[in-house]
Amino acid sequence: MRPTIPASYAKPTGNKIYTAQVGDNQSDLAARLTAMSTDFDHPTAARPPAALEFFAGIGLARLGLEAAGFQVVWSNDYEPDKREMYEGNFGVTSDHQFVLGDIRDVGGSDMPPNVTLAWASSPCTDLSLAGARAGLRGTESGTFWEYVRILEEMGDHKPPVAVLENVVGLATSHGGEDIAAAVKAFNKLGYSVDALAIDARRFVPQSRPRLFLVGLQNPPTSSRQEHHELRPDWLWRVFSDPGLRTHRAYLPSPPTPLTSGLGLCVEDMPVSDTRWWDAERTEAFMASLSSTQRTRVDELRRTAGVSYRTAYRRTRNGSPVWEVRPDDIAGCLRTARGGSSKQAVVRLGSGRLRVRWMTPREYATLMGASHYCLDGARTNQSLFGFGDAVAVPVVEWLARHYLMPMVAADEVRQQDTQEKTAQLQR
Ligand SMILES: C[S@@+](CC[C@H](N)C(=O)[O-])C[C@H]1O[C@@H](n2cnc3c(N)ncnc32)[C@H](O)[C@@H]1O
Repeated sequence: MRPTIPASYAKPTGNKIYTAQVGDNQSDLAARLTAMSTDFDHPTAARPPAALEFFAGIGLARLGLEAAGFQVVWSNDYEPDKREMYEGNFGVTSDHQFVLGDIRDVGGSDMPPNVTLAWASSPCTDLSLAGARAGLRGTESGTFWEYVRILEEMGDHKPPVAVLENVVGLATSHGGEDIAAAVKAFNKLGYSVDALAIDARRFVPQSRPRLFLVGLQNPPTSSRQEHHELRPDWLWRVFSDPGLRTHRAYLPSPPTPLTSGLGLCVEDMPVSDTRWWDAERTEAFMASLSSTQRTRVDELRRTAGVSYRTAYRRTRNGSPVWEVRPDDIAGCLRTARGGSSKQAVVRLGSGRLRVRWMTPREYATLMGASHYCLDGARTNQSLFGFGDAVAVPVVEWLARHYLMPMVAADEVRQQDTQEKTAQLQR
């Protein structure tokens, strides 16, 4: 029996955001995704804590936050194609505002009142290892400073929790100066900062390491968690810098990284489907492989049954060549600018080999958003949207195990203070 696609993050309906759809023969991956799909009751508040979503893209941060009990009330992005997909999935509702426009034109006074969380997935273009590394001084990644400016302009109304998500390259950009500058900027606004590196591969079969800075106005006062696998040694420079105000909140162990599961995310397509490449194109694909790659592919091709691998194009000595991943995991999905970063799916087994481009639905599934509404979205629009996005289950895990408990602790603290004040007044 062909396994079904593993998880389903659908449109939000109250606190129950999605339901898992798992087949009988899925083991670890399915169990993880099922475990995350239980109903979540917000600990104390009658109304879910409100969140702002900066650099919203197609809204995958929103899917993760709302799965953990937050309610995203305001979002901003400047790409009309992204907003179109966003509204295609979430609809347009009176309790949410999507502001289409440059963040440079957004002011702190434009923010809705009583927000608990600000989430920003700022552009990584100048920070990714593949880029020229202008870092936080770059035109695109430098928009991080606009996020800081808006929080500052919010004054006393700034949310008690502020998150920044970006590529892990932020930690090493300009020899660590960029991450230190980012932490200092949060510190200046009153936030203590925690830093975590989470690979989406812990939840979905896609290698996608990302860095998260969690700013808290009221950091935990109990002792710091000494070692945790999400705070690797290369992040330690942040915690050991005496000029930075940091904390390390207690975290449970996250799931271990997956070593398989791509095959469960691949759309079942008959060999007659015209999306499979023709013989000539497939031969050109094979001809571009190195001898090691070809041996790997030939071995899998000879096995009984079917296996899937992802392949991506590289330029070697000025010529485009294909590389096939050795494992049952997808490489990091990227934006499809110019087509060179698009991934292909290779189907191997019983003496056969077929190749085709990865579909938008496969991109969605590998981002933990298999039920994202793609009606009317063009293929490149979708690949671009998902390639730029944050993996939903990573956001959900962080929100469920870190952000929401901090919000709940804040509420308890506030209630205590109110009670004490009332007692003193009696
Ligand atoms: C890394 S992506 C974040 C994607 C988002 N987390 C998601 O799940 O789709 C960065 C986003 O920032 C947006 N962006 C870049 N520069 C911007 C600007 N100056 N003003 C507003 N949005 C901007 C891009 O359009 C892109 O969608």
